[in-house]
Amino acid sequence: MDWKAQLDPKRLPKHIAIIMDGNGRWAKQQGKPRMLGHERGVHAVREVTEACTEIGIEHLTLYAFSTENWNRPKEEVDALMSLLVSSLRAELNTFLKNKIRLRAVGNLASLPQSCQDELAETMKLTESGDKLELILALSYSSTWEITNATQLIAEKVKSNQLAVNEITPEVFAQHLTTAGIPDPELMIRTSGEVRISNFLLWQLAYAELYFTEVLWPDFGKQELVQAILNYQQRERRFGKTSEQLNDSSNG
Ligand code: IPE
Ligand code: IPE
Ligand code: MG
Repeated sequence: MDWKAQLDPKRLPKHIAIIMDGNGRWAKQQGKPRMLGHERGVHAVREVTEACTEIGIEHLTLYAFSTENWNRPKEEVDALMSLLVSSLRAELNTFLKNKIRLRAVGNLASLPQSCQDELAETMKLTESGDKLELILALSYSSTWEITNATQLIAEKVKSNQLAVNEITPEVFAQHLTTAGIPDPELMIRTSGEVRISNFLLWQLAYAELYFTEVLWPDFGKQELVQAILNYQQRERRFGKTSEQLNDSSNG
């Protein structure tokens, strides 16, 4: 049977966001260094990205490195930055073949120059990809992003480009690094941790949350389908009553 046959194509999320967690524990279980877990994590990224293009998901945001991750041992941080550069290089042809457009969100200026250059190059080369937008959250945290947006808005108010009463939720969202990307309908976190860890706090305001014990390197197409099936069973009420939703769907 087709691996995605159980999904209802009319009720797919347009945007899925994933906290890819558990690489270190996966490696530990195998008695291997943490970096092996991160390397295997890249395989999972490839599989899930490919699955999203096949299912017809339009945006996929992957939390790849948080602001707080800068506090890890220097060797791990350096190795993760190198892995980012080598993975972008290795995946370029797959991105082009599958019409994937790359975007990055976060405090990108804080990344090493080699990462910034590789990202800029890959984004430029993939900009016409119209099947899936793959968004990497790098040196990302919501508290940074929201503070940054507030500073940008305050500067505009100070220079009379914006009036205080023009600061609406829509205007605020345009100053986040995710400007223009629709909010995720589904957020997945692997590895059994049940927290948000400073990820997309604004954008996840009404997302459905899905937590799984599976460690990120073991997460693949089947696990993604499970998460989407679970999402499709939920009733998204947005503050209304169930009866109101059923009335409007009946005409
Ligand atoms: C997620 O895996 C990857 C990054 C945060 C970069 P972890 O490295 O957090 O794995 P655990 O949580 O230690 O198992
Ligand atoms: C969150 O994972 C960040 C990424 C997946 C990039 P962490 O492993 O860093 O989160 P905490 O520290 O357990 O909350
Ligand atoms: Mg972790």
